[in-house]
Amino acid sequence: MAMLQRFPMDIPFGWFFVSYSDELAIGNVKPVHYFGRDQVLFRTEEGEAGMLDAYCPHLGAHMGHGGKVEGNKLRCPFHSWAFRPDGFCVDIPYAKAIPPITKREPIARPYPVVEKNGVVWAWYHPERVEPLFDVIEHAPFSEAGWAQPIRRFWSFASNPQEIAENGVDFAHFQYVHMMEAVPEGNTVYDGHVRRSEAHGQRTVKLPDGVEKVIPSSVQTIQNGAGQKFTQLRGVVTLSLMVLATPVEADQVELRFCFTYPEMEEGSPEHQAVMMAIANTCGQSGVEGDIPIWNHKIHRVRPLLCDGDGPILRFRRYFEQFYVEGDTPRQIAAV
Ligand code: FES
Ligand SMILES: [Fe+2]
Repeated sequence: MAMLQRFPMDIPFGWFFVSYSDELAIGNVKPVHYFGRDQVLFRTEEGEAGMLDAYCPHLGAHMGHGGKVEGNKLRCPFHSWAFRPDGFCVDIPYAKAIPPITKREPIARPYPVVEKNGVVWAWYHPERVEPLFDVIEHAPFSEAGWAQPIRRFWSFASNPQEIAENGVDFAHFQYVHMMEAVPEGNTVYDGHVRRSEAHGQRTVKLPDGVEKVIPSSVQTIQNGAGQKFTQLRGVVTLSLMVLATPVEADQVELRFCFTYPEMEEGSPEHQAVMMAIANTCGQSGVEGDIPIWNHKIHRVRPLLCDGDGPILRFRRYFEQFYVEGDTPRQIAAV
């Protein structure tokens, strides 16, 4: 039976969240499933995080189920072959001569991994091209003076492009989120990075009844298909990492990771921050979008009108994260 393909694009390449750093302790070995494949995620005794395709190149055991870390290697639970995070097999305990290929190349497929901003990022590319750019470090998630991050998680049937496009879909803010569009402000497209910065003012009523005009700003940085950072300044300062990881071409895990300047818990300022986080997650935020994303299709040639945001410009930017032949435009032309 033919399935309706809701999204004409494949999984984009980029750096994607695969774990929080503090959820992968030394010696941990975990089965994960991202990018349409099964993997094993682990942390060596030297502290290095590694991610390999799950199935052992020997006789196919899933190394995420029973594999063990030993020194800087992961040992398969079946016949104890040992693999480094770079995918090289470095020990076969019962063999007198280990196959020469193990000296020449990684026999387990490795994923390049980096840790920044408290996140373990894996590089995915459908043709196994090495990383084409770096993960960007964000001071609020890597420096002192910021609160312990607050994390949220959702899983649904969509993909990173649909989620990213939402930010430039101005018309939906009024109807999904019951709020005025967030103006795009100044946007700069610079290769794989898109930056935007919008400035405005908010009038707030202080507890003593006095109204005060407070300058506000929203700054966003999109770095490839899997890394987005937003910083709000105004009544509160709030930093957010939007972490979208493809599970399959049409299934995604979405994480929000928030932090804010350290402050006294329960203070009025802290309550305002908690309110801003609730709004970013609730109907006025991502939970307003999820029911739409979960069921919509991707229209390659949408009928747009004035009042719609710069959606096609954003798509031209995002297209660079697909290998040739996988872009929505080309597939739709078939
Ligand atoms: S299947 Fe992994 S060592 Fe044999
Ligand atoms: Fe939205």
